[in-house]
Amino acid sequence: MTCVLAIESSCDDAGLAVFSSATGILYESTQSQLNLHRRYGGVVPGLAVREHLRSIPLLLENLQESRNVAEIDCLAVTTGPGLAASLSMGIQAAQALAAAWQKPLHGVHHLRGHLLSAWIPLFEKEPATFLSRYPNFLPQLALLVSGGHTLLLELDAHWSVQVLAATVDDAAGEALDKGAKLLGLPYPGGPEIEKKAFGANPHAYDFPRAFAKAEDRKFSFSGLKTSLRYLLEKIPDENFPAQQADLCASYQKTVVETLCHKTRQVFSEKRFASLALSGGVAANGLLRAEMEALAREFSIPLLQPYLRHAGDNAAMIAFAALVDPSHTQASPLLEASWRL
Ligand code: KG4
Ligand code: ZN
Repeated sequence: MTCVLAIESSCDDAGLAVFSSATGILYESTQSQLNLHRRYGGVVPGLAVREHLRSIPLLLENLQESRNVAEIDCLAVTTGPGLAASLSMGIQAAQALAAAWQKPLHGVHHLRGHLLSAWIPLFEKEPATFLSRYPNFLPQLALLVSGGHTLLLELDAHWSVQVLAATVDDAAGEALDKGAKLLGLPYPGGPEIEKKAFGANPHAYDFPRAFAKAEDRKFSFSGLKTSLRYLLEKIPDENFPAQQADLCASYQKTVVETLCHKTRQVFSEKRFASLALSGGVAANGLLRAEMEALAREFSIPLLQPYLRHAGDNAAMIAFAALVDPSHTQASPLLEASWRL
């Protein structure tokens, strides 16, 4: 049995988790900074670092009160990509613990963490048989959608990753955040748009979809945001409140359909044993439902994270180090850009 303690602090959330190869997640805690950054309409790096300085020691203190840290065999920490100053808070804490406890430390790619978060429910169902079951799900076609990234990835039998499609401009989450701002909704916009769209008409407005052709192995969302801006300029202020929900529903539907359309195109060219969804935008109910429908259409399973693991969390970092140590860094350094 191996027990990993992981720290994740790549952006505005600080997370701590302990993961056991025998039973799964033993402990996890996340300190969200949402309320701090919301009033600025986005993450303020200087404030994020100040908050990490306060919350990481607090998270460690709480952990030590509830668990015996002698059970920990090794440590893992996110080393990039992310905000350099935020990342270094977690890395320094992990380095200090590794030195004090004389334990090995693994540097984990943040996106590999998101990608593998989709496997945690499968692992926790029956940890003892995971090693014999996981090859049935590979190769996998994975859609990773966060605030900073939109990727279609192939995960092969050796847990190696190949990028099949990526965004050339805004990420899907960024498109939702920027769209929400134009629609008068607070940050982060993805969940706000989802709430407003509930029960509204997703066919009320027609937005452009970039790179719809099969040969275009890329996403683009900046045109969508611009077309929303032009549309809003034409709507008289007094009519906006009555149309806001339909605008949200139509905008959200365009983002989700663009993601699923490209996933279907890539799948039709190659056989995959499973489909996966991960990243902050994976919390979106419409996207989950559409990806479930795609998996049914392809007659393959869909792996997706627990809702609480769609956004940034430390459990995914611990799990990535546990199941796939060959893709971790033995001496973690800050990695602003690190190939997946
Ligand atoms: O993975 P994440 O927590 O942070 C990054 O690594 O970027 O993703 C954050 C993104 C934000 O753009 C946020 O608006 C989006 O995930 N998001 C959602 C939902 N919850 C969070 N987008 C759509 N629907 C949601 N329910
Ligand atoms: Zn993330």
